[in-house]
Amino acid sequence: MDVDKKDSIASDSSDQVVNPWEVSAKDGGKIDYDKLIDQFGCQRLDASLIDRVQRLTSRQPHVFLRRGVFFAHRDFNEVLDAYERGDKFYLYTGRGPSSEALHLGHLIPFMFTKYLQEAFKVPLVIQLTDDEKCMWKNLSVEESQRLARENAKDIIACGFDVTKTFIFSDFDYVGGAFYKNMVKVAKCVTLNKAMGIFGFSGEDHIGKLSFPPVQAFPSFPSSFPHLFPGKDKLRCLIPCAIDQDPYFRMTRDVAPRLGYSKPALIESSFFPALQAKNGKMSASDPNSAIYVTDTAKEIKNKINRYAFSGGQDSIEKHREIGANLEVDIPVKYLSFFLDDDTELEHIKKEYGEGRMLTGEVKKRLTEVLTEMVERHRMARAAVTDEMVDAFMAVRPLPSMFEYGTETGRSVLKGQSRHDSENDRFSTRKEAALGHETDAYTSTRCYNLRCPGFVQTSRTVLIEGAISPASTIGGLQTELTLQVWKDPARGPWWLGVGFSNGTKLSAIGYWPVEIFSRLTDHAENVQWGGEIVDIRASGRHTTTEMGSGYRPGSDRAAYVRDLQVALSPGEFVPVSRLVVGATNATYYGVEKYSNSSFSYGGPHGAAVHLSVTRGSN
Ligand code: TYM
Repeated sequence: MDVDKKDSIASDSSDQVVNPWEVSAKDGGKIDYDKLIDQFGCQRLDASLIDRVQRLTSRQPHVFLRRGVFFAHRDFNEVLDAYERGDKFYLYTGRGPSSEALHLGHLIPFMFTKYLQEAFKVPLVIQLTDDEKCMWKNLSVEESQRLARENAKDIIACGFDVTKTFIFSDFDYVGGAFYKNMVKVAKCVTLNKAMGIFGFSGEDHIGKLSFPPVQAFPSFPSSFPHLFPGKDKLRCLIPCAIDQDPYFRMTRDVAPRLGYSKPALIESSFFPALQAKNGKMSASDPNSAIYVTDTAKEIKNKINRYAFSGGQDSIEKHREIGANLEVDIPVKYLSFFLDDDTELEHIKKEYGEGRMLTGEVKKRLTEVLTEMVERHRMARAAVTDEMVDAFMAVRPLPSMFEYGTETGRSVLKGQSRHDSENDRFSTRKEAALGHETDAYTSTRCYNLRCPGFVQTSRTVLIEGAISPASTIGGLQTELTLQVWKDPARGPWWLGVGFSNGTKLSAIGYWPVEIFSRLTDHAENVQWGGEIVDIRASGRHTTTEMGSGYRPGSDRAAYVRDLQVALSPGEFVPVSRLVVGATNATYYGVEKYSNSSFSYGGPHGAAVHLSVTRGSN
């Protein structure tokens, strides 16, 4: 096959080796990224491209762009040209699930991909190569699959938008259109070529040889017929560290022969090991890496003990000549994760000129990383198995290219509803959901009857009857309802738990697009019941509210233990509860405490009853 000379060079040269399995420089030295650009034949990401990103997205470029962490690309300019003409693209990135938890280096492409998804409003596919890790590491099929789901939780915790993101594991997804495409790629790559690009030898098992087409094919839209039907020309942009480049050199080689566009890439340098002995932070030595599961104490100890310092041996010498910032790991780490440009420059100046000591810089780094890891831990704790199922469901993403609407007031509703529109409903107890964008002037959108709420659970159905129902003097069924915001600007989720001890399950979400005001928090929360009559005449009804008994009766419906979340996972009891009934003749509400109330009544006119919590 015709191959550009550079594409045929294995990713090593005599003095540095960079490929998906090894990153090292001669004598433990630094990776020479300029040389790597030449070796690999990619392009430097220059200031003019970064300015262009700013102009096209109308937002400040990500810190990883501003500070050159993402430093190389392939055809990123073409993707921007197309975007400027109004053509969208999709993003593709991935993870090889080889360890229980991700380290900070792994987070870099995912944090950056999240920014790209938000800034360009484009869909994203994330590949979990459980097959790759099963073949390369000593992992069973089952263990690699388990790790893939665990890693998916960490990835989701980075804040991806479920309405624009499809996560898949190779063991689950490869087949059908994807497999057909893989075979087409495999037929285009000779054994010599694979050995040249990946450095395979006669000692490697043939499973390894068969893998590269699997990582290649998410680069082509036809591998996802449920997402991109008829969009074979859609361009793909791949954010990753430069160690993954060999896979995509091969992919770009074969693309024209198969009639596909070459995927574009945007590539980062490596987040180094604490000791900075080799090129990248790696999961194989726990003392060289900070994991997203490390405690504050572990982070502090690792930084103090292992982070290689460019400071001088004695305070006197340090004050005199200052730190060598080129080799200093705390400064390097801060340049990845300290957002504030001014503070970073200040630290570099003071430390570089000897006025700041290593201990002070390490202390600041410990604060920054502890805060970041803690935020990630909380976001990760909020990711349930049902959310993983929702991200991994093979489904169309109907609003994947859409921008959010910016009008009206948005109210999330999760409450018991008794519908007088049709008497069929009047004896049924059900939880109803809705969203209002117009302060009740016209929408009245409930359940799944108009676009809005997206059901993801296959077991708890919206508008399905709740069972078992409470009986007078007998079994009592309590439901726990939780509405939470997906970390970092994702949708609002609804979770339901039953009193028989099952844990809270996510049953669906309100996509971020339907909100204009609830983009990150709510100032007011309402709990209660509502009788709806949507006919023009608004006829009076005998529909009951709650259990049909007024507060004061021990048979009345109640809501208890009201809490609000101040930040992910941090719940506090409601402190100021204001109750109200819009038609007290027929329905009542009685406050028991600041976090519980009883409500309901036997019948009455169509009313709207609401209970309001004022903020603390
Ligand atoms: P994996 O699991 O080794 O790494 C996941 C992602 O993290 C990047 N990465 C790093 N970035 C900066 N500093 C580091 N120290 C560091 N270590 C790892 C990797 O470049 C990668 O982007 N085969 C792949 C999984 C994969 C993939 C993809 C990756 C499948 N399809 C498409 C990127 C794009 C792997 O094992 O990645």
